[in-house]
Amino acid sequence: MRVQVRVPATSANLGPGFDTLGLALSLHNEVVAEEAEGITVRIEGEGADWLVENGDNIVARGVRLAYEETGRAFKGCALTCVNRIPTARGLGSSAAAWVGGLVVGNALLGAPLSKDALLALAARAEGHPDNVAAAVLGGLTVSCAVPAGIAAVSLPVPRSLAWVVLIPAVTSSTAEGRALLPPSVPLEDAVFNVQRVALLLASLQAGRSDTLGAALDDRLHQPYRLKLFPWLPDVAAAARAAGALGCVLSGAGPALLAVVPGDGGAVARAMERALTKAGVEGSARAFDVDADGATSRIV
Ligand code: HSE
Repeated sequence: MRVQVRVPATSANLGPGFDTLGLALSLHNEVVAEEAEGITVRIEGEGADWLVENGDNIVARGVRLAYEETGRAFKGCALTCVNRIPTARGLGSSAAAWVGGLVVGNALLGAPLSKDALLALAARAEGHPDNVAAAVLGGLTVSCAVPAGIAAVSLPVPRSLAWVVLIPAVTSSTAEGRALLPPSVPLEDAVFNVQRVALLLASLQAGRSDTLGAALDDRLHQPYRLKLFPWLPDVAAAARAAGALGCVLSGAGPALLAVVPGDGGAVARAMERALTKAGVEGSARAFDVDADGATSRIV
């Protein structure tokens, strides 16, 4: 049996929702896979020049994990990965790899694992659930670890909003971005973020763009990460001046996500110009929200 799996890119945090919120975007990695003796991996597109093409590849490890979880012997698989999600930018490429591998394994096994089980396995592998929840479920996801695994809810997003992603030419690892965070934060900063993450979800549900901008502010992670991305305030200011409601770090960066009422073209150009002015190249474009999450089909 041959299966094809599609997994969306994801933008985690959305400002205040550190390790909690995720948004699935209409940019997908694809994996075509079949069972085989031994593991072969072929990668096309993003990361083809540096990602490992053997059993250590994360997609291959995800396939193996699905077999191990179901107690089935894993002899190997032949994987062809078509990667469109830029790597090491804060767009969930590693979450997409884990989820892609797990969904491939599950499909080859005849789908014994539920979405909840896939989500729990992927979150454990990634270390935090925000990207993998959006990659598995699609839409705007709220997720957290609970004793039984991961509790996650996917919410629809108003179609009137454009989500503009600026992808700088520079890379940064999540580990690097997390190493800058303090072990504890002042209570008032925690309250600031709780208020905003609640306001963000309420504003989206009520279709209130007037409160959405304030709801995108954050004190838990972005201020500490400015050391890596000193151009963030200037690019965010340019995005807002061009009509964005707000502009935040996508995941642990360096990509940025701007929320725009209506067409995002002018905001995308303004963000590119501001980034270039700061001495960094990059390109921006508007994405739709992926409402489906990871999908698989027999081909
Ligand atoms: N919530 C994680 C972080 C996402 O900001 O470190 C990493 O993609």
